[in-house]
Amino acid sequence: MIGSVIATALWAMLPAYLPNNVAVLAGGSRPLDGGRTLGDQRLLGDGKTYRGTAAGVAAGVVTALLLNQLSGSATELLGVSLPTFPPGAMIGLACGAVLGDIAASFLKRRTGRARGASFPGLDQLDFVVGALLVTAALTPEWTRSVFTLEVLVVVLVITPILHVGTNAIAYGLGLKEEPW
Ligand code: CTP
Ligand code: MG
Repeated sequence: MIGSVIATALWAMLPAYLPNNVAVLAGGSRPLDGGRTLGDQRLLGDGKTYRGTAAGVAAGVVTALLLNQLSGSATELLGVSLPTFPPGAMIGLACGAVLGDIAASFLKRRTGRARGASFPGLDQLDFVVGALLVTAALTPEWTRSVFTLEVLVVVLVITPILHVGTNAIAYGLGLKEEPW
């Protein structure tokens, strides 16, 4: 029972988990804010770039397309009914995850935190909240049916653990400048 809830939570969130990690790998190039400032801080900062953002969104959409191809066999293999992703969910999960991370940068700059500074709590959940909000706006019925209360609770517990783990690995491999 809990196993099927965890499997559903991981499956449904995978298109939202990958974008920001791919953005780290692809990052660089022109910053989204074009160097603009608001007050005496950058609007977003050099850590949010066009290339990272585009690659992140693409990674999320491609992940959802792949999972759609695999859902039949994965459902059979695990004995858990895993959802497919309609277009609104593909776009909502991918774009929402990236937008959540961008919104967090905006908040970090407004609260005087330099690029790369940590913001515990926000860093671990910004992309989940972004992904769920945009997906719920684009495809409310699908969101309600997949993200039941149990699935939501599992997502909120598992995501910070996965986030801390993957970022520690990315830092250890020298892919990321900070371990958060
Ligand atoms: N990145 C990017 N575009 C994004 C998100 C991330 O190019 N939309 C790349 C950048 O090279 C960034 C790195 O991934 O430096 C790490 O991402 P993140 O930790 O989110 O950014 P920070 O550099 O820590 O900046 P901030 O403080 O604004 O979060
Ligand atoms: Mg960071």
